[in-house]
Amino acid sequence: MQYQSILSEIGAQIGELPTVGRVAAYIPELAKVDTRKFGVHITTIEDVHAGYGDATEKFSIQSIAKVLALVLAYRMKEESLWERVGVEPSGTPFNSLIQLEHDKGIPRNPLINAGAIVVCDVLISLLANPKADFLAFLREVSDNPETTYSSRIANSEKATGFQNAALVNLMKALGNIENEVDTVLDFYFHLCSVEMTCRELSRTFLFLANEGVDPCSNLKIISSSQSKRINAIMQLCGFYDEAGEFSFNVGLPGKSGVGGGIVAVLPGEYSIAVWSPPLNEKGNSYKGMKFLEMFTTETAHSIF
Ligand code: DON
Repeated sequence: MQYQSILSEIGAQIGELPTVGRVAAYIPELAKVDTRKFGVHITTIEDVHAGYGDATEKFSIQSIAKVLALVLAYRMKEESLWERVGVEPSGTPFNSLIQLEHDKGIPRNPLINAGAIVVCDVLISLLANPKADFLAFLREVSDNPETTYSSRIANSEKATGFQNAALVNLMKALGNIENEVDTVLDFYFHLCSVEMTCRELSRTFLFLANEGVDPCSNLKIISSSQSKRINAIMQLCGFYDEAGEFSFNVGLPGKSGVGGGIVAVLPGEYSIAVWSPPLNEKGNSYKGMKFLEMFTTETAHSIF
C-alpha cells in the first residue's frame, strides 16, 4: 500500500476545506493552539512509516490517554476491573453527569470522563507512586524516555475542572472512589495533559494493532484477548455520542481527545494518528474525522 502518497493526497484535499468547528476553549491553554495545524502519521506493524503536515509537532493528547490508563489498569486488575466500570457505549457527552446517578456511580465505560476517573482511582490504589509509575509505563509503551505530562495543561484543567469535580464527588458519595477526591482529580488532570506528536502517538498505539505486543520492541504490553477487548471498547465508546458515526464512516477502533487528536488502529496492519484542533459539536476533531473517513475509503480497508 502506498501510504505516503495516500496521506499526502488526502492531506492536501483536507487542507482545501474551510476551517469548521472550534477549539476546546473550556481549557484555557487549549484555546491558544493554532487552528490551522494539521498533521497525520501512520506506523505499520512492519515498522513502515508515512507522515504529512505537522506530524512531528507535540499537542495535548487529552482523552486519548484514557486508553493507556485503561490498558495499565486492565493489565494489573484483570477482569475484576469490570466490577468498577462497565463496557457499554454511553450515547452521552464525554463529561455527562446524567447517567451516573441512575447507574449508581458505576460509569458506563472507561472512556467517558467518569469511567476514566474510576480507572485513575484504581491505579492510585495499585501504584506506589501513581504519577511517576504511570509515566514510566507511558515511556515504556511509547518507547520514548521523554514522554511527559504538561504541568501548564494540567494546571489549566485544574483551574476549570468543575464538571470533573462533580463527577468524582458523586462517585465518592455512591461508594465507587477509594481515594481522596483531590488526589484522584490531580492524577486525572495529569493523565489528560500528556503531549505527543502524531508520529509518537501512532507508534504508541501499535501494540493494539498487534495483539498486545509492541512489534518493534517485542514487548508484551497486554494479552491478545485484552488487546481485542480494548479495541472493542474503543470501537463502541471512543467517540462518546459520535461512536456510531465514527464506526459508520471510518470503521476502525479509535479514540479522540479535545486537543484535536484522534488515533485509530487496523488490527494486523497499522496505527494512525491525526491532529487538527477545531472540534465538531461532539468534541471530536472535525478534519481528523474527515481525514480518516477519506483514508479508509481510499485504502478500501477497515475492520468490517
Ligand atoms: O476532562 C476533560 O475535560 C479533559 N481533560 C478530557 C476531555 C477529552 O479529551 C474529551 N474528549 N474528546
